[in-house]
Amino acid sequence: MPCTVTVGGFWGDEGKGKILSYLAVKDQVKWGVRGGVGPNAGHTVIYKGRTLKLRMLPSAVVNPNTQLGIGAGVLVNPRLLLSEVEMTGCHGRLLLDRQCAIIEDRHVEADKASAHLSGKIGTTGTGTGPCNVERVQRTVKIAEEHSELKAYLGDVAGEVNEALDRGEKVLVEGTQGTFLSLYHGTYPYVTSKDVTASSICADVGIGPTRVDEVLVVFKAYVTRVGGGFLPGELPPSEAEKRGWSETATVTGRTRRVAPFNVELAKRSVKLNGATQIALTKMDALYPECRGAKKLDQVPLEGRRFLQKIEDLLGVPVTLVGTGPDLEDVIDLRKGRI
Ligand code: IMP
Ligand code: MG
Repeated sequence: MPCTVTVGGFWGDEGKGKILSYLAVKDQVKWGVRGGVGPNAGHTVIYKGRTLKLRMLPSAVVNPNTQLGIGAGVLVNPRLLLSEVEMTGCHGRLLLDRQCAIIEDRHVEADKASAHLSGKIGTTGTGTGPCNVERVQRTVKIAEEHSELKAYLGDVAGEVNEALDRGEKVLVEGTQGTFLSLYHGTYPYVTSKDVTASSICADVGIGPTRVDEVLVVFKAYVTRVGGGFLPGELPPSEAEKRGWSETATVTGRTRRVAPFNVELAKRSVKLNGATQIALTKMDALYPECRGAKKLDQVPLEGRRFLQKIEDLLGVPVTLVGTGPDLEDVIDLRKGRI
């Protein structure tokens, strides 16, 4: 802080939503601004007994005092956005950049009908790829041309830069994960944009000199959905046995699973310029630490695992996720225990 950018370290679904919502509440951030691709993202936030599944809104929505922004680089599905606004009641504090591209039904249909996209690549079928094609062609509709979005339109880049000038805390939210980057990921099994920290900032409209912290979120094991390379992939029965079996938020598919991979994590730290690491789902490796808020509640083997990650990656692990609730976090930012 004041300006932290948060990105996924592997192939998405690292638990960014939970970490972002924790930071929004704990640090009382002034702005929570979403970069990234669009409604192909699925963030789950559990707070005060309520489960929110978010695909368009920033996860910072859980803090009623936080201003919410959606950067110009994000693709917007108006129907989904408006239903999330309704569900969360965030009407008065959402700013949507005028230049966000609009996903239309035909983009969704084209994504789903494409043997290459939803077939071979295994996309989420949410229309983001076909919409980005039109954006590059400069034929796509933008938010200011969509009358239903009028109440939320503004200049997100301008507002966020001014907030930073005043020294206010800004949390920039990435989506997907580093190896789904169109440029740096496992091409062609990737999403339709770069999703590393630099691009997330560009989506929102803040320059590299404005960023204080780059927080890369890793899960204690690796998952991916769709096709493509996954080193050390486990058979589904083994994933089940280890308690690592997951179902995708957006598509309902079973995620492919592999153990934590240090080489991939090192690459991700490099590509994003990480200054901090959040490690989620520690309780999937060490069930004894479920819900822990302090490091001494983690068994010795788990503490060694964290230390090993820190030593090998050369970046401090500052947040450790120990359960699905926003509050299930060991916060190590102010020293150990
Ligand atoms: P698209 O982003 O829907 O075009 O899908 C391209 C690839 O990225 C597919 O393998 C998707 O499963 C994957 N993908 C896109 N968004 C996410 C996400 O939020 N979490 C995990 N995988 C994703
Ligand atoms: Mg997800």
